[in-house]
Amino acid sequence: MEFAQHVKSQVDIVNVVSDYVRLRRVGNRLTGLCPFHNEKTPSFNIRADHQFFRCFGCDAKGDVLNFVMMIEGITFWEALKKLAEQNGIPLPKQSLASDETTKLRAALYEMHETAADHFRENLAGSGGASTREYLKKRGVTEESIRQFGLGVAESGGRLQRLLESRRFTKEQMEASGLVGRREDGSLYDRFRKRLMFPIHSETGKIIAFGGRALDPNEPAKYMNSPETEIYKKSQILYNLNRAKKTAMQTDRVVLVEGYMDVIGATQAGVVEAVATCGTALTTAQIRAMKRHSQNLHLNFDPDAAGSKAAARSIELLLEESMRVRVVELEGGLDPDEYCKEHGAEAYRGRVDNAKSYFYWLADRARGKFNMRDPQGRVDAFQSLLPAIQGLSNKIERGTVANDLAGYLGIEAGLVLEHFRKMAADRVERVPLQRAEHEAHSTDRILLTLLLSNDEGRAQLVAALRGMVVPRMGATRPLYESIIAMHDSGEPVNFVAVHERLAEGNRKLLEDIVLKDDVTGASVEDGLACIEAWRREIQGQAQRDMKTQIKQAEREGRFEDALRLMEQLGKDGKS
Ligand code: UTP
Ligand code: MN
Repeated sequence: MEFAQHVKSQVDIVNVVSDYVRLRRVGNRLTGLCPFHNEKTPSFNIRADHQFFRCFGCDAKGDVLNFVMMIEGITFWEALKKLAEQNGIPLPKQSLASDETTKLRAALYEMHETAADHFRENLAGSGGASTREYLKKRGVTEESIRQFGLGVAESGGRLQRLLESRRFTKEQMEASGLVGRREDGSLYDRFRKRLMFPIHSETGKIIAFGGRALDPNEPAKYMNSPETEIYKKSQILYNLNRAKKTAMQTDRVVLVEGYMDVIGATQAGVVEAVATCGTALTTAQIRAMKRHSQNLHLNFDPDAAGSKAAARSIELLLEESMRVRVVELEGGLDPDEYCKEHGAEAYRGRVDNAKSYFYWLADRARGKFNMRDPQGRVDAFQSLLPAIQGLSNKIERGTVANDLAGYLGIEAGLVLEHFRKMAADRVERVPLQRAEHEAHSTDRILLTLLLSNDEGRAQLVAALRGMVVPRMGATRPLYESIIAMHDSGEPVNFVAVHERLAEGNRKLLEDIVLKDDVTGASVEDGLACIEAWRREIQGQAQRDMKTQIKQAEREGRFEDALRLMEQLGKDGKS
């Protein structure tokens, strides 16, 4: 646990999160679209001063370790190790305690690393000559081979023997998906005679492979790793690990269908290209892209399968509030082929000038309806209404509907009518009302200072000690924890105190401290708060005592009354 504290003190949550989420600074907070639920306006907040994140929409929250665990779907130990490695923090000598899952996953990562090295060596060696020739013919450069870590799987169980020699167990090998088991129990290499594409997690660990058949007679053109403990197909996008940095800068992601398309686009200078790995696009994948940009340029193959996939993807993308454009390439070419035939500049032009998805949908509708017939045109228009309804902005919906009507040759009046009806049907979502804790501003100022002002803390704690603690109310446990931690010489900060508290008190602390920024409050302000608070508490105590005196007098307990009066006189002077 001590090591976890050490790691947390060395890394900045803002740096870590901004690798995953596009953030904007507002005062001393950073906000962005929450990566843990679907939303259109940012309610995800990070407080750099407290090293803590919280989403006011879905209530996801925590410190930097919690964030990495949640976003990567990994265990506590894995998150710790990952952060330590990324920040050059040496791991403790005795290896970190870990559970079985973490151990298995570590073995799987290692096997994938080993396999990727092995495939690369195969490609570079004499046995790789024909594949190198094939790649050259397809226009894949040496630089791309290196960048994408391409390799070759040969036949004859060589990988399986290599893994065996590295002391991986049969169970581990099978769990990796790199090796299969025959009915007689013997093992075989899953990938044989294939060009190998390593598939990485978003943070760059190899977690699976895609393999393209080198033999044209092989019926399965592509074969991909099965799902394993480290590879969940529906959550991974090919090349996101490399694409995300540029995607944040250019504020767009280009989604293509295949591995070769990603490589072709990258060679043409469109490096923010990603692909699914042979499965239909999922919500999880869309959210992974959305964390880097809300703008998506869709560039699927123009064949029937590709446009069907595109139509379905557009629906899902709109549901997730993405802004979608469709890249259209003439001549029935896929991105890779287009780049080869027309060159990098032409391809970049097509991507940059991609039109909004509804023109693409309209073109599709044109093909399906009889556009010479007025009713056919209206039907075509109506078939597009659900997509227009998917737009979140009312004004945008109106503009798009008008544009489309013009594009399809429909009367404006008709559009308006449909549109009015549509608006009436549409139930505008009302933002959730959140119950907000009405924290006293004194608590807000004091707790913020205590948690973040290392120089003034001792002075504030000393002043607080003189307080009549039982009268501090609901926030008392917060002050008690802070004072106790300060006294024992432990580091005092938001995360450390938060960890120490029981659940209900954690929430209280979050509500008081994270909500608004207390900027510029000084130690003197804090001391003044304590003094005002002390007087308030004292005043209340005196009023209580006066009541008690009256009570004692009424009941004829004059000695008690006298003692209380003496007490009151003393307290009043202090
Ligand atoms: P394509 O058939 O368009 O392949 O499939 P490609 O990427 O253009 O490859 P080349 O140019 O023929 O070499 C697109 C993607 O669909 C998946 C793969 O992820 C592939 O990159 N796929 C395709 C499979 O998973 N299995 C297959 O049999 C075919
Ligand atoms: Mn292709």
